[in-house]
Amino acid sequence: MDSNQSILITGANGQLGQALKQLNANNDSLVFTDQSSFDITNSAQMEAVFKKCIPKVVINTAAFTQVDAAETNQEKAYLINETGVKNLLELCEKYNCKLIHISTDYVFDGESTVPYKETDTTNPVTVYGKSKRAGELVILKSELKAFAIIRTSWLYSRFGNNFYKTMLRLAETHKELKVVNDQKGNPTNAEHLANALLKIATLLTPENSGIYHFSNTGEASWFDFAQAIFEKHAINIPVKAVTSQEFPTPAKRPAYSVLNQSKIEKVFNISISSWKNALTDL
Ligand SMILES: NC(=O)c1ccc[n+]([C@@H]2O[C@H](COP(=O)([O-])OP(=O)(O)OC[C@H]3O[C@@H](n4cnc5c(N)ncnc54)[C@H](OP(=O)(O)O)[C@@H]3O)[C@@H](O)[C@H]2O)c1
Repeated sequence: MDSNQSILITGANGQLGQALKQLNANNDSLVFTDQSSFDITNSAQMEAVFKKCIPKVVINTAAFTQVDAAETNQEKAYLINETGVKNLLELCEKYNCKLIHISTDYVFDGESTVPYKETDTTNPVTVYGKSKRAGELVILKSELKAFAIIRTSWLYSRFGNNFYKTMLRLAETHKELKVVNDQKGNPTNAEHLANALLKIATLLTPENSGIYHFSNTGEASWFDFAQAIFEKHAINIPVKAVTSQEFPTPAKRPAYSVLNQSKIEKVFNISISSWKNALTDL
């Protein structure tokens, strides 16, 4: 690392981290860190890295993301999703660095019937969602001048664990699949988000700081998403629509977590594809 490198990315081995890496393998201004080199719960280690590379912007993709496991690992979820953000924020304030932090559609309770705007009231219903909201509040209550909290949803890519890869894997071993049809959201291509994040990193100022929603446009249920995945891959497997009740999980997901993306499109001049078109980019 040297001092020319100016955007520090956390959680580089995660899905979004790898999507950022994939787009920018030869970009010297990006410093990719992972849990072993930059553990966001280890302030001393983090500061040593900051002193070496003096970042202008941090993109925080690191998080405790296991929605069901968070229900029984509350302490760990808050340690990473709230205290980890606090640790990052303190360094950003001390080294005058901008912070782009990734948050989630699960800060909403899913009771809405129209896409959520940044100004809508949050009311997370899962431990994961509550811990992510706590991370947002750390930033919103701080004095940090330049920051963006980017809420995204239903990420998929060729990296890490995600619904897209799970469906393809299950199709290899099952004759029929059951997929829930009563949760709606925005499937989002992680590479599209990665591109947007890098653009925002260059345009972020104290004046445009705030919360933003980024997801591919148009709404889908997991059932719709599964059907589109199989259509793209010409996989001819029967998919049966089921309710969440028939498919119980430890964390109850919001029924409707569709995001309104118009603020990010307007402020940062980002054009966003529909989720169906975004799927063809993978
Ligand atoms: N995936 C989605 O559908 C989705 C939806 C909405 C919002 N988001 C948000 O988007 C962001 C990126 O998600 P993702 O899908 O890329 O998640 P991911 O694949 O689970 O990646 C998260 C990364 O964070 C790392 N990490 C965990 N604890 C850490 C620590 N203490 N210090 C440093 N790194 C740590 C993990 O490291 P290891 O690899 O070593 O475990 C992992 O590489 C997260 O903020 C998530 O909340 C995701």
